[in-house]
Amino acid sequence: MSAPRRRLALLPTPLQPFAGMYLKRDDLAGFGLAGAKARALEFLLGDALARGADVLVTGGSPGSNFIAGAALAASVCGMECEVLVSGTVQKQVPVTLQLVTCSEAKVSYTGADRAELDKLIEERAEQLRDRGRTPYAIPRGGATPVGALGFAHAAQELAAQLDVDEPIVVLPVGSGASIAGLLAGRAALDARWRVYGVSVSRPLPRIRSEILDLVARMGHEAVTDWELIDATGQAGDRDAHIMLAALRADGVLFDAKYGTKALAAVAALRARHEQAPIVLWHTGGLPGALDLLAGAAT
Ligand SMILES: Cc1ncc(COP(=O)(O)O)c(C=O)c1O
Repeated sequence: MSAPRRRLALLPTPLQPFAGMYLKRDDLAGFGLAGAKARALEFLLGDALARGADVLVTGGSPGSNFIAGAALAASVCGMECEVLVSGTVQKQVPVTLQLVTCSEAKVSYTGADRAELDKLIEERAEQLRDRGRTPYAIPRGGATPVGALGFAHAAQELAAQLDVDEPIVVLPVGSGASIAGLLAGRAALDARWRVYGVSVSRPLPRIRSEILDLVARMGHEAVTDWELIDATGQAGDRDAHIMLAALRADGVLFDAKYGTKALAAVAALRARHEQAPIVLWHTGGLPGALDLLAGAAT
């Protein structure tokens, strides 16, 4: 694994005992508020710089943590950045989009559904290429074999920190880049971890095949011992409640889109695997947590 890498995050992130399990604190990755997305961006920016790119083109929904991290990474690396956003101008601008603007990226509202964005990103990159620029296009969530390298390396990082055998590793899943990388990294390590992905936005059959496709493109075909859990419903009062409970009991801030859903899935898994040690990956999502608190405060 000697792919070009531009260091951005403070690694390794801590592995902390938490509520009878372990918490992998990627919320403390130390690169803006990008959390675990900083891992993917290290390899994506490394690749972009190695290819001489001068403008990053990516996109996501207004609340995407990835676009906030990507815009910041481009700024830090001295590249321009264009961010295509699904939908139309928002009355209440989420913290993620404010961070994109702070990083001086160009924001374009596309009016399109988020599922259309990857195609629009490619088209915009093509336009820029026709104008003599060297764009680097990144699909939503950084879901490419290069982006997934972030979590392949994270698997090594976790293996070096763990002092238990055969743990259950739980992480939230959006685009699938993180879990795909983790599964590829686990295969390379031959580690006996059971991995559970908590899908927060895409239906299971679709995200499963997208993950398997990414893992295959990373050179690992038959991955077993992993499962997806459906958590695609809107975050609601239950999530806000879980978030406040974790904050008050342990001083850990989870967001409602990813973190609290993964936390809720752990509670259900505990019933199924009473003996096995559990590692919950806290992937970050702090902008969403701040939005929720700001909403709660007004
Ligand atoms: C906080 C947080 N956790 C988890 C994920 C899911 O990661 P992935 O898109 O790699 O599946 C995201 C994706 O944006 C995220 O922002």
